[in-house]
Amino acid sequence: MNPRDEDESYIIQRENIKALILDMISASFETTSVAIVWAFSEILRNPRVMVRLQQELEAVVGRNRLVEESDLPKLTYLDMVVKESLRLHPVGAFLIPHESMEDIVVNGYFIPKKSRILVNTWSMGRDPNIWSKNAEEFLPERFMDGKIDLRGHHFELIPFGSGRRGCPGMQLALVSMRLVYLN
Ligand code: HEM
Repeated sequence: MNPRDEDESYIIQRENIKALILDMISASFETTSVAIVWAFSEILRNPRVMVRLQQELEAVVGRNRLVEESDLPKLTYLDMVVKESLRLHPVGAFLIPHESMEDIVVNGYFIPKKSRILVNTWSMGRDPNIWSKNAEEFLPERFMDGKIDLRGHHFELIPFGSGRRGCPGMQLALVSMRLVYLN
């Protein structure tokens, strides 16, 4: 049956609902939970990082109340831990396949228009030319100067992609990840 009926309104069918549920699970629940598990495992493997996180939490929130979303901007070390975890363990290691719109030369390689492009964020996150010789180490302090963010402006760190087809759930994911560590 045509998805549009005669008066031009959309009919949502069983297939559409199934596709929406699959999108929700694969794009949002699965990605966020995998990112949280990776970050937890890095924190457990690096007790020094766990202690620094606890100290920050103690200083910013204290012991007499629960963490609120408005505390998040002040938890700067937590922010570095999230970045470092997504650098080493980007959930979408190749992003989602893109298609080039124009012929282009990148680093001497000719890439014709309409090529299927996979961006290997996993290997970018571990490239010693970008992150220095300690690229394989979990070192949140490398983000101390705050110059690199996750929002697709700095191409060395794009776990959420970049530009118009970047992840629309990024803000929700970043808030969820940080609140889960704290509670
Ligand atoms: C840590 C959690 C998440 C990570 C690492 C992540 C990562 C990504 C990446 C890499 C892409 C492809 C971007 C590109 O190819 O340029 C993407 C797309 C997408 N993400 Fe996320 N995501 C996360 C959480 C979420 C959440 C919570 C939602 C929804 C509430 C969401 C919804 C989507 C959707 C709908 C797309 C497709 C956008 C499009 O094709 O235009 N994601 N995500």
